[in-house]
Amino acid sequence: MSNFFSLPRERLATLPTPLEFLPRLTARLGGPQVYIKRDDLTGLAFGGNKTRKLEYLVADAKQKGATHFVTEGGIQSNHVRQSAAAARLVGMQAVLVLNSPDDAPAVQGNYLIDDLLGAQCHTVPTGPDRKPRMAELAEQIKAEGGVPYITVSGGSDAVGSQGYVGMVQEMNTQLTELKVNPRCVYVANGSAGTQAGMAVGQSLFGGGYTIKGYCVVPGGADEITQDTLTLANQCAAHIGADPVDPSRILCDDSQFGEAYGFPTPAALNAIKLLADTEAILLDPVYSSKAFAGMLADIEAGLYKRDDAIVFIHTGGTPALFAKVDLLKPILSR
Ligand SMILES: Cc1ncc(COP(=O)(O)O)c(C=O)c1O
Repeated sequence: MSNFFSLPRERLATLPTPLEFLPRLTARLGGPQVYIKRDDLTGLAFGGNKTRKLEYLVADAKQKGATHFVTEGGIQSNHVRQSAAAARLVGMQAVLVLNSPDDAPAVQGNYLIDDLLGAQCHTVPTGPDRKPRMAELAEQIKAEGGVPYITVSGGSDAVGSQGYVGMVQEMNTQLTELKVNPRCVYVANGSAGTQAGMAVGQSLFGGGYTIKGYCVVPGGADEITQDTLTLANQCAAHIGADPVDPSRILCDDSQFGEAYGFPTPAALNAIKLLADTEAILLDPVYSSKAFAGMLADIEAGLYKRDDAIVFIHTGGTPALFAKVDLLKPILSR
């Protein structure tokens, strides 16, 4: 058995997040029975999936005596926003390296919240500029007597992915209470940590369902499947669990569209459909693409009316405010 339950963890999230049936959406679709796991409600500064990862990352940082929590992302990164909040709660200074093509990015959405949370924000023009800038900042922090803790994009390393090992145990308990046996669990895959952690969680805690991850970053399904498997096995090794069964990692790139961060017409329809039926808001970058993938499977007739499926809502809603232009096709004004 693994040592998962004895590894350091800082409680940051409001858990368990609800697992709810979506009666109006299910009726609108005529089945299958659709459930949602509300990880958009993890509670830390607008919530989202990164909070579960940060419980382990921040604990690791504390154990290493860190004074500064250094991390990276795009200008509208959800991981960065939740990192800023987590650092604030444990008394570390968040140091954020954000890439944006604009010299003066709009102070909106996640970037606005980073600022309100007192994070130090450093912008660079492109993604590849982030790591060298983080290394530079880490040197500066050390020179001033501080201790930097550097976290990768999305919090997706062996430590952070543990958050989703625990999510599977939590979800399985809820499914048992509800007497629901889903055929498939749908989730977005960006930096892979969420799906990787879930794969480890499933091999530790069971569950007869398929986990299907939807790629929202470029690379293609084969490469992202391999990256997710590698990360899952790093996470398994970290917690002393057996390697995962590679056939458990299923990534689908059919909803990627033109580029990261640009919602497809199907993703926009998904946002509108869930808002109209259940008053739940998806985000334009991640959850809407995964939800569109789930709707495509339903449309393709993969499920019978009484089958159950689960959608993991990973959050990201602050980006709605920063991407109004891209939402225009589904806005009434
Ligand atoms: C809202 C949201 N959903 C899903 C994901 C994907 O999670 P992961 O990076 O662990 O694959 C992210 C982050 O990348 C996110 O911010």
